[in-house]
Amino acid sequence: MQGLLKLFLLAGLFTISLAQCSGNFTNETQQVTIDWTVIDSNTVNFIYTAPSTDTQYTALAFSSQLITSVGELANVDAVYAGDNGADFFVQDRWVPNALSNQLDTEQNLQNTNASLSGDFLTVNFTRPIISPDKNQDLDLNMCQYVIYVFNGAVIGSFSSPTGFNIPSGFGLLPMQLCLQNCQDVSSLSTTIPSSTGTMSTTTISTSVQSSSSISSGSISVSATTATATPTPTATATSTPSGASAGMLASVLLIMIAVAIVLYV
Ligand SMILES: *[C@@H]1O[C@H](CO)[C@@H](O)[C@H](O)[C@H]1NC(C)=O
Ligand SMILES: *[C@@H]1O[C@H](CO)[C@@H](O)[C@H](O)[C@H]1NC(C)=O
Ligand SMILES: *[C@@H]1O[C@H](CO)[C@@H](O)[C@H](O)[C@H]1NC(C)=O
Ligand SMILES: *[C@@H]1O[C@H](CO)[C@@H](O)[C@H](O)[C@H]1NC(C)=O
Repeated sequence: MQGLLKLFLLAGLFTISLAQCSGNFTNETQQVTIDWTVIDSNTVNFIYTAPSTDTQYTALAFSSQLITSVGELANVDAVYAGDNGADFFVQDRWVPNALSNQLDTEQNLQNTNASLSGDFLTVNFTRPIISPDKNQDLDLNMCQYVIYVFNGAVIGSFSSPTGFNIPSGFGLLPMQLCLQNCQDVSSLSTTIPSSTGTMSTTTISTSVQSSSSISSGSISVSATTATATPTPTATATSTPSGASAGMLASVLLIMIAVAIVLYV
């Protein structure tokens, strides 16, 4: 009975510690940045910046399967955006395969903005974590791969695009985005630090904020830790840069949790 309780406690902490309620990704080579913040229990905001022009679009997409090139795009939940100075669009779309692209019948994006400045488009949108649109939006309460594309031509007008040419820029986040349990994070912050020693306080607060940062330049101390842990969110590619301070903090939190459980 007590063993079962310990197991539940551990499983709960493990799941919570995997959530990344806010974070950012930078690919310095491609000059792409993505920032995300959970702003309430079912809403997440994304700010995405990528190279673009006044004839081009960029898109950010979620996928349940690993996709490593434009040609592999299939069943992807995407946000397409562009700005030509006169008009901008930010559209909720569904990509059944690399050659087709549908405007969602239900548009579930809010507070959208796309602004071209110099050679960069900044796209801002909020969307539900669990969307009411079950057919053309993926559930971000489950871990999803995040893909981005840029430098593709818009077909038709910017007020009402009719199509999108194949983009020349493609990339993916080296880890999955996991927003589940973000609404529980604040309660965790009040309970855990009080039961641990001073040395680990800093580490725990990092994990509680569940921030995660990935950059192409980062040297990853935690890469070894990440591979040694049976986590479903482990780095999608072989690049070790995917793991982060957040991941390391998560692993430490789990170790601390194990220590607590052993003393219960
Ligand atoms: C993005 O949109 C949100 C909501 O409209 C707004 O509060 C925020 O300031 C915007 N951020 C940027 C960088 O445009
Ligand atoms: C969109 O973002 C740009 C740049 O931040 C800003 O100047 C503009 O006012 C925003 N437009 C809307 C509709 O929020
Ligand atoms: C990116 O995430 C890291 C780690 O959480 C944080 O320290 C940093 O301020 C974030 N950067 C931006 C631009 O939000
Ligand atoms: C950034 O993009 C380049 C070019 O596609 C890729 O080789 C590199 O692995 C990317 N870095 C990260 C951190 O994703």
